[in-house]
Amino acid sequence: MIPNGVVDLWQLNDPSLAGLLQIRTAIGFRPIALSFAILFNGASPLLRVQLDRKTGTVSTTIKLSTGSQLPAVGLGMWKVDKPIVPNLIEQSIRAGFRHFDCACDYGNEAEVGEGLQAAFNSGLCRREDLWITSKLWNTYHAAEHVKPALEKSLGDLQLDYLDLYLIHFPIAQKFVPIEHRYPPEWFFDPEVESPKIELAGVPVRETWEAMEELVDLGLVKNIGICNFNLQLLRDLLSYAKIRPAVLQVELHPRLTQEKLIRFCDDEDIAVTAFSPLGAESYFSIGMADPGESVLLQPEILEIAQRHQKTPAQIVLRFGVQRGLAIVPKTSRVERLAENLAIFDFELTEEEMNLILGMNQNRRFNDPGDFAEAAFNTFLPIYE
Ligand SMILES: NC(=O)c1ccc[n+]([C@@H]2O[C@H](COP(=O)([O-])OP(=O)(O)OC[C@H]3O[C@@H](n4cnc5c(N)ncnc54)[C@H](OP(=O)(O)O)[C@@H]3O)[C@@H](O)[C@H]2O)c1
Repeated sequence: MIPNGVVDLWQLNDPSLAGLLQIRTAIGFRPIALSFAILFNGASPLLRVQLDRKTGTVSTTIKLSTGSQLPAVGLGMWKVDKPIVPNLIEQSIRAGFRHFDCACDYGNEAEVGEGLQAAFNSGLCRREDLWITSKLWNTYHAAEHVKPALEKSLGDLQLDYLDLYLIHFPIAQKFVPIEHRYPPEWFFDPEVESPKIELAGVPVRETWEAMEELVDLGLVKNIGICNFNLQLLRDLLSYAKIRPAVLQVELHPRLTQEKLIRFCDDEDIAVTAFSPLGAESYFSIGMADPGESVLLQPEILEIAQRHQKTPAQIVLRFGVQRGLAIVPKTSRVERLAENLAIFDFELTEEEMNLILGMNQNRRFNDPGDFAEAAFNTFLPIYE
């Protein structure tokens, strides 16, 4: 059943495999040799696979430092047009998605809420079956704005708690009242002649302490950060009473960030890869050239051919096989099943290393570039 350590998890139906199966990677998050062992009640696995006996399907989750189980694959909601959101939510739940990556800034949380309500009301799933992430926008970093911002997201999503709330960027912008403009986006005042991003002097510590209060109030189960570098993370860890459970950053074959992932592994912070498909998300907004598509690279095409998988499945599998959560976005119902079907094969160590070798430290989503081009403001954050 386990030739060469490869397990076809989608076809596991051996009744002797009681209840919970766990897959353990021998490498932690490190990009070195990967070997799988099936363990029964094994100790702190990084990837844990649960078998649904009714459907014969599996879902994988990553155990967080808080004990919560983060589903390793979620549906990204950035740039999903409002009108299609409710149906996409329903179809994605039918396809097996249980994790949704939302944000105030995506401007579609009310529509996500509509889709979730429809799914609950029709009995498709229950709230507790899902993992819902949202993100605190930059204009709400001051302590007094954090809870109202969360409450607005909760109201739009029609939920009474979040599984994960993330600080979206380590960038504090001047406050824009919810009643004035929502989502506020990047410009402080888009109506003026030369609109700009305007910053506010709010320390991360103030924002983090307000995030911790949300956990104490039971409004969010886990808190974390996005787009933080190592220096900021170290600083945050020096005062955090509740440590960040998750760091969400851009990660794909052109930006592999080994040191950051290793640091998070050592600190027991789970890592979620955004833009896991690389350049794909950035063509339509002029932030990548079509020639930069990872999916068209000969290395990926060859591996895809070998495994009889699509290039996207290879790149997504690369992410989860590193022990990362991934949140691929698609607006197309026909791609939902494709993006989830990445647990029935394994990349070899050689293939993993080949893909790691494609790294170019190419960051597509960099405020140091896009804020000047699109928002008239020089705003580097990673240097
Ligand atoms: N925290 C942050 O600052 C931050 C920043 C960026 C993104 N995110 C989160 O991460 C999520 C994912 O990142 P992303 O949307 O930037 O990029 P992505 O998921 O890597 O790529 C999305 C793009 O790939 C296409 N695509 C999806 N599945 C495909 C497949 N099987 N084959 C070929 N193309 C496919 C999509 O087109 P179609 O829609 O046409 O399928 C879309 O153009 C976001 O939606 C958001 O939730 C967070």
